[in-house]
Amino acid sequence: MKENRPSETAQRVAMQRAAHQLLDDPKVLDDPVALRIIGKERAVALQADPRQYETTPLASYLRAFVAARSRYAEDEIALGLRRGVRQYVILGAGLDTFAYRNPYPEGTLHVFEVDHPATQAWKRGRLDEAGMTLPGDLTFAPIDFETQTLQQGLQDAGYDLGKGTFFSWLGVTEYLTTEAMMTTLRFIASALKGSGIVFDYMISPSLLTPAQRERFDALSRRVKSAGEPWQAFFAPEVLTRDLRAMGFGHVEDMGPEEINARYFKDRKDRLRVGSLSHLMNAQV
Ligand SMILES: C[S@@+](CC[C@H](N)C(=O)[O-])C[C@H]1O[C@@H](n2cnc3c(N)ncnc32)[C@H](O)[C@@H]1O
Repeated sequence: MKENRPSETAQRVAMQRAAHQLLDDPKVLDDPVALRIIGKERAVALQADPRQYETTPLASYLRAFVAARSRYAEDEIALGLRRGVRQYVILGAGLDTFAYRNPYPEGTLHVFEVDHPATQAWKRGRLDEAGMTLPGDLTFAPIDFETQTLQQGLQDAGYDLGKGTFFSWLGVTEYLTTEAMMTTLRFIASALKGSGIVFDYMISPSLLTPAQRERFDALSRRVKSAGEPWQAFFAPEVLTRDLRAMGFGHVEDMGPEEINARYFKDRKDRLRVGSLSHLMNAQV
């Protein structure tokens, strides 16, 4: 990320979630706050021209994936609650809106929004501008994954190590060093039994076909120009093995076929995720 500047990619993906509310029927992610969080002017412009981000054929793949990964995390929270999960930690929350439409009765699921201090301060300004009340079940934890440990940052924010916790890490791991990512995952692997994480990650470019590599390079150039270059890439089998070695008992990788079968089956508009999309689900 650019020094002391909020994440530009956080705004970009929030725009995708907002566009999904306007363009896609049925919605994979129903997010009534998605338009409010992007800022009034941008919301007005998007409503006037919802297809303004459809500049390349890749745009709808990205929108589909951004919607699907949040939906998957939120489906997994519901399952986690049945396993005794009582805390939800959103890592690199950006403009994620779950906390502001938390469907569970107050006192059921405490949400911690963890993010880079610059992005978090910017989001709090955005919430204020939109006149949104902060829910009682929400705590902010400003953390830079590269220089601080998640454990310390969460502890300072009042996180309870004795409670089952679900973590999501959406659209973040590719921007970190592998070392920072692994340190964070090791901490999550030590959480109470029943805890778990859902995150997405980038496939190692060496495993891609030439056509996939072309799409990868195009996307990579875009995030690099936003000052947020991709740094971490994985082979699904190796990442699965590493997560098991950390102590996660159940590890499930979902590739594009599984994601499309689960969330984009039989759609008339043919919305679907592209072949670079992978989601990992690891449970303690
Ligand atoms: C593409 S955005 C994703 C935001 C959100 N998860 C979503 O899906 O809308 C990337 C997020 O990673 C966060 N991030 C990037 N590097 C970080 C770091 N070193 N420490 C903490 N957060 C970081 C950014 O602040 C930003 O919120």
